[in-house]
Amino acid sequence: VTSARFQVVAFSGSVRAASSNTGLVHLAARLAAERWPDELAVSITDVVRDLPWYDEDLEAAPPESVVTWRDMVSAADALLLGMPEYNFGPSGLAKNAIDWLTRPPAVRVLQGKVMAMMTSGGKGGGNRVQDTLALILQLLGNTVVDEPRVQIAMGMTRIGADGATDDAEVIDAVSAKLEALVAALRTRA
Ligand SMILES: Cc1cc2nc3c(=O)[nH]c(=O)nc-3n(C[C@H](O)[C@H](O)[C@H](O)COP(=O)(O)O)c2cc1C
Repeated sequence: VTSARFQVVAFSGSVRAASSNTGLVHLAARLAAERWPDELAVSITDVVRDLPWYDEDLEAAPPESVVTWRDMVSAADALLLGMPEYNFGPSGLAKNAIDWLTRPPAVRVLQGKVMAMMTSGGKGGGNRVQDTLALILQLLGNTVVDEPRVQIAMGMTRIGADGATDDAEVIDAVSAKLEALVAALRTRA
């Protein structure tokens, strides 16, 4: 947590070492720090990798990873997701991370958040997962920043996992997404 106006928690739905979706998250964090230092504080977390599979039996005494994940999201204004498209939907890791934020229902932390997704996919750029996930996130009571889309075709050849890229189209798409995210956060504030 920094003194920036809006706290954004970011994670990648891909654990692949060279993941381009992880790259989109890193690129976004860098652009946010450069262009909106007073407004956006983007914290990238890997704690989603440590979460066990969702299990109601663990709710009585949730493991540390679950508590950390919930606390981070609870303190955040927005979530930024590097979201691969696996068979037209989110990765299992991403869905599991989301499910942990919704239980128990009385203390659901995933509501009232501003959500933005970025996808690096195959030839189609992963043009289905965001519709699927947007519906879920909206039903949970969040605001999805739907447009402009970041759907990068064959992104695995266009950006490194550290966010390094000289692809202007990728940089412009991520910048435009952040601009829309800032605008949505300002409107909501
Ligand atoms: C199980 C699986 C299913 C996939 N399904 C899709 C798909 O429906 N649409 C798509 O665009 N790409 C699909 N892909 C390709 C991924 O988008 C591609 O592997 C992508 O680069 C993964 O992102 P990463 O670089 O962050 O690991 C699939 C990949 C896997 C492993």
